[in-house]
Amino acid sequence: MDIAFQLSAQGPWQADCLLLPAFEDAPAQLPAPLTQAAPWLAASPAFADHSGRAKSLTMCHGDAHAPISRVLAVGLGKREAFSPETLRNALASAVRLCRERRLSRLALAAESLDLLSGPRERAALLEEAVSAALLAAYSCTLYRSDASLTEAERFRLQSFALLYENDRPQADAEAMDRGRAAASGVQLARDLVNGPASVITPARMAETARDLAGRHGFSCRVLGPGELRILGMGAFLAVAAGSRQEPRLIVLEYAPKGMEGADPLVLVGKGVTFDSGGISLKPAADMHRMKGDMAGAAAVLGVFEAIGKAPGQCPGRVVGIMPCAENMPDGNATRPGDIVATMAGKTVEITNTDAEGRLILCDALSYAQKEWKPKFLVDIATLTGACVVALGKGAAGLFCDDEALRGTLLACGEKAGEALWPMPLWKSFAEQLKSPVADMANAGSREGGAIYAALFLKQFVADKQVWAHLDMAGAGYATKTSALCPEGGTGFGVRTLYGLVQKTDIIK
Ligand code: BES
Ligand code: MN
Ligand code: ZN
Repeated sequence: MDIAFQLSAQGPWQADCLLLPAFEDAPAQLPAPLTQAAPWLAASPAFADHSGRAKSLTMCHGDAHAPISRVLAVGLGKREAFSPETLRNALASAVRLCRERRLSRLALAAESLDLLSGPRERAALLEEAVSAALLAAYSCTLYRSDASLTEAERFRLQSFALLYENDRPQADAEAMDRGRAAASGVQLARDLVNGPASVITPARMAETARDLAGRHGFSCRVLGPGELRILGMGAFLAVAAGSRQEPRLIVLEYAPKGMEGADPLVLVGKGVTFDSGGISLKPAADMHRMKGDMAGAAAVLGVFEAIGKAPGQCPGRVVGIMPCAENMPDGNATRPGDIVATMAGKTVEITNTDAEGRLILCDALSYAQKEWKPKFLVDIATLTGACVVALGKGAAGLFCDDEALRGTLLACGEKAGEALWPMPLWKSFAEQLKSPVADMANAGSREGGAIYAALFLKQFVADKQVWAHLDMAGAGYATKTSALCPEGGTGFGVRTLYGLVQKTDIIK
């Protein structure tokens, strides 16, 4: 779907359907060009009847010869309860309805967003509107036969146009670019999570990164087993040992002009392309969802897609590091009780081969610090079932002892509509990770498991390194369809981290 805009100076507004946000307790105001493009609207009984209640959608039909003959009143509920979340969900449901009705050219009056929270917020709401519309149009049809698709799934929306009564300010143009860029990043991450593990292998993750680098001019480096061995990444290699798929360490770098020598923001994403648990095999129920255990790496790739799609919106140097491997049981697989040496020199007794995420991440974190001298280091991973138990589905745990970075990440999550919740890094808990035969064990007890995983990682982060860890195990894969996201990969993390890379104070 294309994102477009129309100025009323160029002629009457046109669309198959105009989405008109409406409050429950305030009369809708009709922009002047709309009364010209849809003169029938003021007298439309359906429009007069719309309630504006949250989640209500009222399709109003008028003169078939008018430039706009359909207006969809999109209920936002009570004005005082309005938030960007309301707008995102309402527009996403509206776009879905239009998709079912096979209306392909949609429009929204940009200036009407000022009525929602004032002109100062317009650009932010516009960005949300654009990405919500694009995300509502997403479905994963790559692995489906044509005949199995519903009409709505087969139907391709053509365009989403922002209509202007006056000129389009530069801030709006940039907001549109960011909304569009963020949505492409989320779509890429969803496609990767939804793809089966037989297709989305570590090698395929590397190809995806190379493709991004080629399209957007990033540098890309991919390390295979030989190089990982030379670097001493024994923990990372131990996870891949039972798989026919070779591991890959993927590095992407974006450096805008003049920033080539700056200390970068480094994003590290867990890329376990399938997590069977290894010899500590997982139960069969829902194991298929572990094809999505690379959602952290997918989110990092998504951020780079977004950076590349809107050149000029990211002022600093950003490096993405994605350790990718498949965790399988096999004659060559790592056994519980095996001891490995990490790149940092510490030895680890692998007491549970299903605690594999921290094993690939610890070596990736060491590499990140040694090779890239991060100004800020942020990792994102579907790391523990315990985090899902703690925070529920849809939210991620945020582990960060640096107040400024924690605050910034919370604000970015809030703006993106991605729930992050602060979790503790209690030092005394590290006792649990003691091993009688190695420097540490890779798994602690089930209770508090998300904290043990985070503390395991912390052992590999220098004291003075500013670092945050996001455990997104509950948020990478939706088990229920919503207006903004069908069941499956969510693309969680892309929008929060895309917000982070735009914060000049963080990365300059
Ligand atoms: N990939 C899983 C965590 C996970 C659980 C992701 C549910 C998405 C949804 C991770 O590798 C894992 O298996 N963690 C174990 C750790 C335990 C063995 C210490 C867990 O959470 O059970
Ligand atoms: Mn696991
Ligand atoms: Zn895992």
